[in-house]
Amino acid sequence: HSLLRGKHFITTQEWTKEELDMVLDVAKDLKRRFALGEPHRLLQDKTLFMMFFEQSTRTRNSHEAGMTQLGGHAHDLTPDKMQISHGEAPKDTAKVLSRYGHGIAIRNCFFGIGNKYIREVAKHSSVPVFNMQCDIYHPNQAMADLMTIKEKFSDDIKGLNVSVIWAYTKSYMKPLSVPQSQILLFPRYGMNITLAYPKEFPLMPEIVEQAKANAEAAGCTFRITHDMDEAFKGAHVVIAKSWGAQLTTTDEQESLALCEKYKDWICDERRMALAEKNAIYMHALPADRGNEVTDAVIDGPQSVVFDAAENRLHITKALLALCMGGRP
Ligand code: CP
Repeated sequence: HSLLRGKHFITTQEWTKEELDMVLDVAKDLKRRFALGEPHRLLQDKTLFMMFFEQSTRTRNSHEAGMTQLGGHAHDLTPDKMQISHGEAPKDTAKVLSRYGHGIAIRNCFFGIGNKYIREVAKHSSVPVFNMQCDIYHPNQAMADLMTIKEKFSDDIKGLNVSVIWAYTKSYMKPLSVPQSQILLFPRYGMNITLAYPKEFPLMPEIVEQAKANAEAAGCTFRITHDMDEAFKGAHVVIAKSWGAQLTTTDEQESLALCEKYKDWICDERRMALAEKNAIYMHALPADRGNEVTDAVIDGPQSVVFDAAENRLHITKALLALCMGGRP
């Protein structure tokens, strides 16, 4: 496990399948130990600096609670509490925080900036840097989703059909990071991907190309449709969530009108009935109830949204323990 000590976690694409398997394995063990109330202070007296450029419920609290349970501490930082607000260079922030603690975790979803910021910090940090979501990737979420799918299908996930589907919301500013991380990761575990979106809401072409290559390498399928109903047919896992448009206009009204055009892209009971009988419904949360999904689906028997949210804690603890801890 010491192989992962000091490693940055920015995208799952930069980790081997064996390394990702190790995270899943440790997360499962830590989940069991947490349920038993068995101490697992693997990061005794260690410090994680969390820098949040945006709001968060799950990511912030799973990291902070996780560090406490591992015997360490997490500092909850925002730009206004730091000299970032006065323009301090990311490399200077990286070098200073590296001297104070043992890990740096960052959420920065600013389009065209977030991933670059995290990579610049990682380049100059002597401690591991964790991506807590950027404009391109949300690897922690995708790992928690994978853990949840494995639990729900008793590890028999090869050949499952996963549909990653755009859903309506009033905001057109949402990052692409959740679906992009899901389509990159799941094919590596042998799951077939259907990606569905209105034509004005594509993901980044280079990510889709990489996801297709991952699917081809694993011998599974990757298809794209612009028909929401079509995406539900035969699905074992339905992930219906809004994401932003690759806007060709900066006009807010025009952009909102674009979203309104696809108001009927909602995950409801009729559509869930098109999926396999044992299909599960997932959403990274927060969900826009009534727009992305009906209450009947998200509160219904097929929904595993709170199990996935819970698994954020266990995946996070595994990542932190493996990268910040290990052999003394
Ligand atoms: N899914 C997720 O990352 O949730 P938060 O934005 O609340 O952290």
